[in-house]
Amino acid sequence: MFASRTDWRLEPNRFAAALEEHRRLGKPLLDLTNSNPTTCGFSYPEERLFAALNNRGALRYEPESQGLRHAREAIANYYRGRPGFFGAESSVDAARIVITSGTSEAYNFVFRLLCDVGDEVLVPAPSYPLFEYLAGLADIHPVPYPLIYDRGWQIDIPGLLSALTRRSKAVMVVHPNNPTGSFIKAEEAHKLADICAGGDLAIIADEVFLDYVDGTEQPSTFASDSPVLTFTLSGLSKISLLPQMKLGWMIVSGPAALAEPAMQRLEVIGDTYLSPSTPGQLALAEMLAMRGTLQTEMRQRLRSNLGFLDALFPRGSSVERLKREGGWYAVLRVPAASSDEDLAIELLERCDVLVHPGHFFDFSRDGYLVVSLIMCEAEFQEGARRFHDFFRRA
Ligand SMILES: Cc1ncc(COP(=O)(O)O)c(C=O)c1O
Repeated sequence: MFASRTDWRLEPNRFAAALEEHRRLGKPLLDLTNSNPTTCGFSYPEERLFAALNNRGALRYEPESQGLRHAREAIANYYRGRPGFFGAESSVDAARIVITSGTSEAYNFVFRLLCDVGDEVLVPAPSYPLFEYLAGLADIHPVPYPLIYDRGWQIDIPGLLSALTRRSKAVMVVHPNNPTGSFIKAEEAHKLADICAGGDLAIIADEVFLDYVDGTEQPSTFASDSPVLTFTLSGLSKISLLPQMKLGWMIVSGPAALAEPAMQRLEVIGDTYLSPSTPGQLALAEMLAMRGTLQTEMRQRLRSNLGFLDALFPRGSSVERLKREGGWYAVLRVPAASSDEDLAIELLERCDVLVHPGHFFDFSRDGYLVVSLIMCEAEFQEGARRFHDFFRRA
């Protein structure tokens, strides 16, 4: 009856089963995996948000296949003045933007645009676990290429080259990556561009966390003039801490001979679904404009939780917090006495603390646990303390 693309293993794995049981028993839980900003005590400007959504224009249906012009101009404005990898400053044209219902839909549009059934896209490992599903639902194969850690994360270029096949259509980058928090460096972006230009491959750059940088230097964006066909994805879920608005987008850049036909085809794809709601799009500019104070609060939260973690695990501890440059997560290298999954289950059962086992993000071996840094300080600190005591006793 069902398509083989939906032949997922639906029975919960041991970790999910342990969590289900924990919840069923009503036990307390310190959730260090929580990355839903709407449940982390941020001070949303509620009145401003409601005012933005209260628009009489929402009574009319006048769809545009790429999304409403006014909203696209606001997105173009978000990129104004940012450094680009392939030019001094990025300048994004609203005509090269497609608004989607979240970044996930943008991925689907790009996969459908570029790939035939069975084609391949290269995805970083470790990275965002949803890629496997997004690719599978588009009938394509995600082929991992390694990121390696040596006092910081970097792309394993020989590893990437050896993952390429005749069926490769695009290289995906997450900039900064989830969960490693590593940005693509200029040198890597140029190498990638060379590889992609030489192999008729596109770049798909996920920049949802671009605004969350630990340092002071503004990172470069892929949404600039590029020597290769490039799709840069982002959205309000991280930029304005509003995942429930389901507003994402992609920017198409690259040589006109490729970017223009790509836009024409994307217009048809967009026109087929017209997914983003009118009320959301009408409010998009204002929701983007309110990111300033929210991001300031988020950065403060990230700094504070990261600082607490580093005080618990100073250099030389048996648990090492891996170097990161941004994003919302921290990766902890822990003594691999048992599998990541066993460790995460033990932490849950003995300490009421929930963390992600590394394999969830496709780490190549055991010994990695991942925590989110965005929850309220008090909850984070209690969870981190118990995590610390767990490894001290272990
Ligand atoms: C790398 C990455 N891309 C995209 C998303 C989700 O974006 P959206 O809510 O716009 O679909 C996430 C969410 O965690 C993410 O980690």
